Amino acid sequence: MSQTCPSPQTVAPGPLDAAAHAALRAEFPLLATCVYLNNNSTGAAPRGVERVLHEYWETLRTWRDDVWMGWHDGLDRYADSIAALLGAPAGSVVTDANLSTLLARVASCFDYRPPRDRVVTTDLEYPTVPFVFRAFGRYGARLDVVGDGGPHLDQDALEARLDERTLLVCVSHSSFISGATVDLPRLVARAHDVGALVVLDAFQTVGVMPLDVTALGVDVVLGGAHKWLCGVSTAFLYVRPDLVPKLEPAATGWQAGDRALTFQPSTDWAPAARRFAGGTPYPVTSLISQVGLDLLAGIGIEAIRHHSLALTQRVLERADEAGVKVVSPTAPHRRGGVVCLDVPDGEAVKRRLAARGVICSWRGYLRVGPHVYNTIDEVDAFMDALVEVLPR
Ligand SMILES: Cc1ncc(COP(=O)(O)O)c(C=O)c1O
Repeated sequence: MSQTCPSPQTVAPGPLDAAAHAALRAEFPLLATCVYLNNNSTGAAPRGVERVLHEYWETLRTWRDDVWMGWHDGLDRYADSIAALLGAPAGSVVTDANLSTLLARVASCFDYRPPRDRVVTTDLEYPTVPFVFRAFGRYGARLDVVGDGGPHLDQDALEARLDERTLLVCVSHSSFISGATVDLPRLVARAHDVGALVVLDAFQTVGVMPLDVTALGVDVVLGGAHKWLCGVSTAFLYVRPDLVPKLEPAATGWQAGDRALTFQPSTDWAPAARRFAGGTPYPVTSLISQVGLDLLAGIGIEAIRHHSLALTQRVLERADEAGVKVVSPTAPHRRGGVVCLDVPDGEAVKRRLAARGVICSWRGYLRVGPHVYNTIDEVDAFMDALVEVLPR
């Protein structure tokens, strides 16, 4: 590898002192191998994962039938830790393999009967959002996509499309394309005014930005572990507790029933968010993901956001100096954890950076997503390398 990893000494001024930051970095071995600023795509795995995997193997090696009970406790603990991060009560979050599965499960709770049959979304969503709701077209869902093909979220245009025909408005908290965040208090107020529910894809924010779902009154929130939560292959769903009894998923499984753990056919739903469960869960991904979640919870989401904003601000300043076009909103309250840069030949630029040990992603724009364990030096190393590899 040709790059030198910057020293972790220089961190942004803020709530994390240098010693605590160095200790945090030491938990993420990946950081010693490269300049890793790809957290909006895949977060770094903490070293504690190795112990969990070893324990998992030991469990398999010495298998007994009651293992499942312990695994269920682990799954519940993980779901409740996510709930705590969201400002939601215990029992209001359920997990499954990925966001798409959970989104389709939520979508299957509705009848899509005119006049309230519309699902309003934007063209800045992750592809699963339009794909899932287009599929529900066969049950009457009418998808209304707002946007002009550009990277900016026009919240006025989005809100203007909401009316008494709107059943759901499904948007990202922060777009995976541009990082632009939605003004949630405004959106929730407007949606509720017309009798619509807000389904929020928070994959790009939970773990790097505060989100208090109870204070905001958001109806449904989805996200996943493998980006800002430093976990792997598991996703979560929160449903507003007073809404839960009104929703019955057609796409379901035995774990959503009230008698699931007796292995008898259920006649009613399991309590709280468990009614949105499916079949046999994947315990290992939640057990692994608990490690990263606990580390982040120990730092606190406000401190994480503070650090993230300082690092993304540095990207903005360095991009400005270098004449690199920034696509993401620059106002702190409108940007998420990522800064997207419009560079010529972006895919090749990403590859050239990777060859120097500087890791980011490209999805139409070059996306740089520093997390709480990154340093100002790493952002500078990224920008120095970018300037060198840009086509002249
Ligand atoms: C905003 C957003 N939503 C959803 C996903 C992924 O959804 P799934 O878990 O279904 O793969 C991603 C990225 O992987 C994302 O960035």
